[in-house]
Amino acid sequence: MTTGINGAVWESLYRHGHRLQYPGEMLVRMAHRYLDPERHRRVLDYGFGTGENLVHLARRGFSVAGVEVSESALTVARQRLAGLVDPDALVLHEGGRLGFASETFDAVIAWQVLCYNDDEGLRRALVELHRVLRPGGRFLAALCAPGDSRQSTGEPLGGGVWRLTVPGQDGCLLRVLEREEIPRYFPDTGLEVGSFGHEMGETVSRHWIVTYEKH
Ligand SMILES: C[S@@+](CC[C@H](N)C(=O)[O-])C[C@H]1O[C@@H](n2cnc3c(N)ncnc32)[C@H](O)[C@@H]1O
Repeated sequence: MTTGINGAVWESLYRHGHRLQYPGEMLVRMAHRYLDPERHRRVLDYGFGTGENLVHLARRGFSVAGVEVSESALTVARQRLAGLVDPDALVLHEGGRLGFASETFDAVIAWQVLCYNDDEGLRRALVELHRVLRPGGRFLAALCAPGDSRQSTGEPLGGGVWRLTVPGQDGCLLRVLEREEIPRYFPDTGLEVGSFGHEMGETVSRHWIVTYEKH
């Protein structure tokens, strides 16, 4: 997993005060559409940042756990979620195997996280997330899509990988999947692919939404 350079960049960002103040709008909509607190009680948020999406999910009644590569983000998230989530349910993840038994979770969310990888890192992370998901459980992710400013201003390294030059994420590796590549990376059990994004000034934001139910 490419947590090395990417982990260092994100840790520096969070250490210097990077925060979101609200959950992702599309995550809120997609979680409402695909996840039910009764059927998907135990939810893993992979790469929760400073925890805004976790706050939303915990308030909706999900039993949440999460992993994050940045220790500074983990500290902020634990404070933000104090009284709402057991701090031990939020853990540092330095890459490789996740510290959970197979089939632990009813749902796994990876929102705008998995693309911060090289190709091998992306594949390995997907195998791990699939492993910890129970049969019948729901996978839900957002990944960077072609045309996003991070890609278009980045340095192409080949094989669908870019080195980012945007301020703050400078040096991060980004794996951007073309639409036709997506089915090769995910199980075909009810695979659904959507997209969202916006343009504001010079910023172009483009994301895939990928979801499936594990069989
Ligand atoms: C754009 S933020 C998204 C945070 C949160 N999921 C959200 O939607 O607000 C990306 C997060 O992915 C984490 N991250 C970056 N590279 C990673 C990697 N290779 N493996 C796991 N997590 C990574 C970062 O620490 C960061 O918190």
